[in-house]
Amino acid sequence: RRWGNPKCSSSPWDSAAFFGIVSIFFVLRWVLHFKEGLGWDGGLAEFNWHPVLVVIGFIFLQGTAIVVYRLPWTWRCSKLTMKFIHAGLNLLAFALVVVSMVAVFDFHNTAKIPNMYSLHSWLGLAAVILYCLQLVLGIVMFLVPVTPVYWRAAFMPLHVYSGLFIFSSTIAVALMGITEKLIFGLSNPKYKDSPPEAIFVNILGLILVVFGALILLIATRPSWKRPSEQLSHILHTSGGGEDNIRVGPALSQLSEGTDDGEIRRRSNRLDDQDKLPND
Ligand code: HEM
Ligand code: HEM
Repeated sequence: RRWGNPKCSSSPWDSAAFFGIVSIFFVLRWVLHFKEGLGWDGGLAEFNWHPVLVVIGFIFLQGTAIVVYRLPWTWRCSKLTMKFIHAGLNLLAFALVVVSMVAVFDFHNTAKIPNMYSLHSWLGLAAVILYCLQLVLGIVMFLVPVTPVYWRAAFMPLHVYSGLFIFSSTIAVALMGITEKLIFGLSNPKYKDSPPEAIFVNILGLILVVFGALILLIATRPSWKRPSEQLSHILHTSGGGEDNIRVGPALSQLSEGTDDGEIRRRSNRLDDQDKLPND
């Protein structure tokens, strides 16, 4: 069975969504059950917003934003609608990341802990700055109507590469942060004695890796690429009107007997103005 067929009971996106949501429950249980809870007092409860908001925003929302064009049930929406959803999810993620940065810097300043001394903080801040740049360039290139089509096409491969690079870096930065926090935070028993908190949070790290791996899988598989506007229009009307259920089967019929690249080649030949001259 092909992924993306709505008749399939599970797809990589279902699994990614599952692991993403479970990671949010894990980080919340970590700070609420094992740690000091959440607060805004310059203390450890304020620091705790840092992991919570990066897992929700920088990992879960960014990952969702990246694959949103590739979910077959969104192919009935226009490309412009999908651009707003992709940009909106990334903007929301960025807002949460900014609050998470304020929380950790405020905590450090209140406790007189130096800023920006660790590799985690260097790579983390670099990822946030690149993410901001990606957001601004994405809006200028793909949402502002006057941007020439050939600029869009030329910029697209860089946008995709840097998006996937930033997302992967985010997972790596989170793993470093988790390890640092466990080493700093556990004293009796220590991290090396494997207390329940250490095992629990190590599992959170594993879940984040699996989530990242699934998002990268979905975002790089040619057969999951969104068909062009024209092709999706044909697909949606071939079943007789706006019947959404027919979209997936129509696509899978179309792709039946073709290799993974075939449907992509077909879709790329049609009008997709952000990529046309490029592919
Ligand atoms: C500190 C970014 C995830 C734990 C920092 C700092 C930055 C940062 C820029 C420096 C703050 C300062 O110097 O005042 C990020 C980013 C993340 C992330 C972009 C996104 C994935 C996490 C996670 C944890 C964590 C999931 C787990 C608890 C820490 C700790 C510090 C810290 C313990 C203080 C020690 C240090 O500066 O290295 N983070 N972080 N971080 N972060 Fe993260
Ligand atoms: C595609 C990341 C912001 C427009 C992509 C892809 C990634 C990505 C990884 C490839 C997805 C795929 O091949 O299916 C990001 C990140 C952003 C961001 C991390 C924020 C920091 C934006 C913004 C816009 C935008 C603000 C403006 C509308 C697009 C478009 C595509 C795309 C038009 C092509 C979709 C397609 O292939 O059909 N983005 N993006 N992105 N992004 Fe972004």
